[in-house]
Amino acid sequence: TGGLTTLDPGYKNTGSCESAITFLDGEKGILRYRGYAIEDLAEKADFLEVAYLLIFGELPTPEQLEKFDTDIKAESHVDEDMKKILDGFPKSAHPMGVLSSMTSALIAFNPGSVNVDSEEEMYNAIVKLLAKFPVLAAWAMRKKKSQPLDYGSKSLGYVENLHKMMFSKANEDYSVQKEVIQALDKLLILHADHEQNCSTSTVRIVGSSHAGLFASISAGISALWGPLHGGANQAVIEMLEAIKEDGGDTKKYMAKAKDKNDPFRLMGFGHRVYKNFDPRAKIIKKSADEVLGQLGIEDPVLDIAKGLEKEALNDPYFVDRKLYPNVDFYSGIIYRALGIPVEMFTVMFALGRLPGWIAQWKEMRQRKEPIGRPRQVYIGENHREFKSLNKR
Ligand code: SDX
Repeated sequence: TGGLTTLDPGYKNTGSCESAITFLDGEKGILRYRGYAIEDLAEKADFLEVAYLLIFGELPTPEQLEKFDTDIKAESHVDEDMKKILDGFPKSAHPMGVLSSMTSALIAFNPGSVNVDSEEEMYNAIVKLLAKFPVLAAWAMRKKKSQPLDYGSKSLGYVENLHKMMFSKANEDYSVQKEVIQALDKLLILHADHEQNCSTSTVRIVGSSHAGLFASISAGISALWGPLHGGANQAVIEMLEAIKEDGGDTKKYMAKAKDKNDPFRLMGFGHRVYKNFDPRAKIIKKSADEVLGQLGIEDPVLDIAKGLEKEALNDPYFVDRKLYPNVDFYSGIIYRALGIPVEMFTVMFALGRLPGWIAQWKEMRQRKEPIGRPRQVYIGENHREFKSLNKR
């Protein structure tokens, strides 16, 4: 073969890594952030507490949480010239592309965020991003809906402020049901980290070249966008809608999903690590019932989703391949009930995943890990003699 025939086990930073942030057990369906069970965090903590836990390793004291919140609020302004970049996008632009570009553009207005040699510089870059990211995400949605931009309010909590920036109406006082904020908070917690998934590995490997936090997160947003990853939550709702429009015939779509000649996949099903139920999917499914009940919403696609799940759990094709609902299968039903447009679903995933990406980037930088350099097993041609054009 002329090259590596097996990967050298001693080769450093081949893309796998040691990490102390999130523990997964795919067989048992266990997920813990810094040792705390996701079930406890989703029920008992709020998103900013979980963000602090992931990034700094401990649940914050009341004083630590208050300082974190104050420091973030102090950085929540976004340079007016960033709006000129936003204005450059067509209304048809996908919000994930807008968010990735705007996150990268933030570097130009915060040049000090690139060098993070001191703890203080690193903290400042982290707080700036946690503060400005929700603004950019909300602006991406308002751009799509041709609505005036909302700058948020320092009197609101992190998640409620995000909701206000997304949904406030000109010339109307902002108000929201507490159940909506509770549901949003829980969804963001459930998406906050997931060890070395595609987008997190992207953040770590881009960060390993010392490209800076904002550039690394911008790359992670692009990786998350794909329909096999975070983009699946949008694809799930589009799939459920198609099934509903097609008369709700779930058996037909189950057959398509099993047909090797049909590229159709049951979106929201399957996972590289979980070979049992995704613990997040269990919580989100229960929350979907609660939220729709609290808001008095009947959504036929929830029944279609439950029907697909029931059929798949009794179908040898899915059972043999250990294909269960993942985090993306039910989340879109809640987002839709909250009035979030489907093309914003993956942006919601990114908003939740931001503290996890930051925590993983910080860990990689603080451990002074070398630049990422995955190896390959070469399977191409051996050495060949060059042939001039007139001899080919
Ligand atoms: C996320 O890594 C993470 O942690 C990601 C994530 C996170 O929090 O960061 O959990 C978030 O990305 C969740 C996954 C969202 N994606 C989807 O729901 C898209 C649909 N799912 C599939 O594309 C797939 O299950 C993946 C991508 C999630 C996992 O793919 P794998 O591990 O590479 O599995 P595979 O493609 O090798 O499939 C194994 C078998 C194949 O059949 P055979 O070749 O053995 O006959 O299972 C089949 C696949 O065809 N299969 C499916 C299927 N998923 C796998 N068949 C139908 N429908 C599906 N959804």
